[in-house]
Amino acid sequence: MSRVRNFVSERIASVPPSGIRRFFDIAATMEDVISLGIGEPDFTTPEPILQAGIEALRRGETHYTSNSGLMELRRAIAEHLDRLYGQTYNPASEILITVGVSEALYLACAATLDPGDEVIIPEPCFVSYAPEVVFAGGVPVMVPTSPENNWQVTAEAIEAAVTPKTKALLLGYPSNPTGAVMSRERLNEIATVVKRHNLLVISDELYDRLVYDTQHVCFPSLPGMYSRTILLMGFSKAYAMTGWRIGWAAGPAEIMEMMRRVHQYTIMCAPTVAQYAALVAIKEGEPFVEEMRQEYDRRRRLIVGGLNEIGLTCVEPKGAFYAFPSIAVTGMDENTFAEKLLQEERVAVVPGSAFGPSGKGYVRCSYATAYEKIEEALERMRRFVRRHG
Ligand SMILES: Cc1ncc(COP(=O)(O)O)c(C=O)c1O
Repeated sequence: MSRVRNFVSERIASVPPSGIRRFFDIAATMEDVISLGIGEPDFTTPEPILQAGIEALRRGETHYTSNSGLMELRRAIAEHLDRLYGQTYNPASEILITVGVSEALYLACAATLDPGDEVIIPEPCFVSYAPEVVFAGGVPVMVPTSPENNWQVTAEAIEAAVTPKTKALLLGYPSNPTGAVMSRERLNEIATVVKRHNLLVISDELYDRLVYDTQHVCFPSLPGMYSRTILLMGFSKAYAMTGWRIGWAAGPAEIMEMMRRVHQYTIMCAPTVAQYAALVAIKEGEPFVEEMRQEYDRRRRLIVGGLNEIGLTCVEPKGAFYAFPSIAVTGMDENTFAEKLLQEERVAVVPGSAFGPSGKGYVRCSYATAYEKIEEALERMRRFVRRHG
């Protein structure tokens, strides 16, 4: 009798599980833990958005929508992008409603990559980028960033990574985990490299609305970039809608058509109830976005000031809701630091290396948690550093 074969795809098995979950699992078994580990808003979805979802269900909106998503929602998103960034998209052919940026990212890779195509990815970065490229048969080429450049990737670093196989650049700014926001000047330099090497850009701008003391620059709005950019945005962070699973992709019609094809056969459409809630989010959500942004900003000042004072030095994050301090003062590596901090002081942070090799010696601290909890976490971290510094 023949032995059962190994049925698992080598390509999928080559991708390790995310390094973030392990800490959540340990933290979940402990009492009195303050978690700075979470990558999602602590706010619940604002009331009018919730109500829109509930009313949609009560009206019987329990069916599929068109593959691309509700036309009304696509139109509202087109107006939103025009208003904020002066970037126009045709809602009929250039906008696709997806199951969060997560699905949009998957679609972007599936629709554009052929086996062996290289994708340049600045790191440390969101944990899904490299796996999604691998799942689609591509090859991720990681490019380091550093605090010396405020964790912004440079055009030189990108250009140095270009080979004849390079097809795309995957940008994720404002950044999870560093909080970095790209300046217009740096983005323009990158646009020049992108043009010179004829690259596609996949731009994950999920945190575009959560920036502080600065302006977000929408990559496709730069000269010449619209026709070669897939823009990914969503509702999870700014509207506190992670669990609704809703986002969108926007880009040139010929690329969007291919993304729609993958989406049509794998997903059918984004959740209908979430689409109705998202419509109200886009149309009426602005005051709530601004209120939450201001609260994140207050917490950001607290945590950045506190961490630097303790000796866990960190460059000022200008976006998202993460601080990314160096733990050099403790002499520990980031995994030991995170484990000991959790065991000894019951504060959960994520080791920076979970986001790429340049995260070695750093940890990610999310400030999407209550101000008072951050104050207490800083006190505990102060004790910890004093003991180990
Ligand atoms: C940079 C970044 N992109 C995409 C995602 C996925 O978001 P969504 O909930 O829209 O799938 C996250 C979630 O943490 C993220 O941080």
